[in-house]
Amino acid sequence: MSVSDAAASRRFVLRGLRWEDAPAWRQVYLDLYDEVKENPELGLTLQERRPTEAEEVAWFSDLYGRSLKGPDVIVVGEVDGHPAGLVTIAPARRGASPWENSHVGILGILVARRHRGHGLGEALMLRALEEARGRFEWVRLTVFSVNSGARRLYERLGFRTVGHLEAEVKRNGRYLDEELMSLDLRSWKAPADVGRRATGAR
Ligand SMILES: CC(C)(COP(=O)(O)OP(=O)(O)OC[C@H]1O[C@@H](n2cnc3c(N)ncnc32)[C@H](O)[C@@H]1OP(=O)(O)O)[C@@H](O)C(=O)NCCC(=O)NCCS
Repeated sequence: MSVSDAAASRRFVLRGLRWEDAPAWRQVYLDLYDEVKENPELGLTLQERRPTEAEEVAWFSDLYGRSLKGPDVIVVGEVDGHPAGLVTIAPARRGASPWENSHVGILGILVARRHRGHGLGEALMLRALEEARGRFEWVRLTVFSVNSGARRLYERLGFRTVGHLEAEVKRNGRYLDEELMSLDLRSWKAPADVGRRATGAR
């Protein structure tokens, strides 16, 4: 990447979700179904088939509603005016008594393919974890064991691997393991050496 490419890649802003983002996110998610054909280890779980427009609208409406109501943390990374990355931290809501899990937030992140590797994921994670303080006490995520780049990113931010989920995903007949990672947000401080690449974040 040339220096000017690198500079251009950093022109992103971090902001909340907007209703008018819906078509952009639909495209980003649909593109994953093509990407997984090229990369069977793509680190996101997908549905059996491409979601229909109705399913996408329902998904986005739910996400947008949660962004307004909270306590979910939802941060969008925009590059040159277009949504390029999304991080969510949602209450764990497990089992019959979700109240007793409500101190735990579950993190998910996606950066659109052509915007990866320029620091947007790191900047999104930092902003989301900062916003999550006071809403959640612990943040957890699962990551494909083979997704070493993403695992490094989470470790840099302070996540620890606390479990190994054998054969958690079955994709085209092949099992993929996942790692369960956890961050204690009560004592978390953004590491001093993280976030330097995201100099364009506002
Ligand atoms: C993982 C992901 C969110 C990171 O976002 P990003 O903007 O690419 O991240 P950054 O540029 O801040 O770099 C963070 C790490 O991501 C990894 N990364 C960079 N480009 C990548 C790419 N094209 N694909 C996958 N990971 C990549 C890098 O290894 C980097 O770590 P390193 O600097 O130690 O090498 C993003 O690459 C992505 O959406 N990947 C596909 C979906 C996925 O794996 N999601 C994670 C679910 S747990």
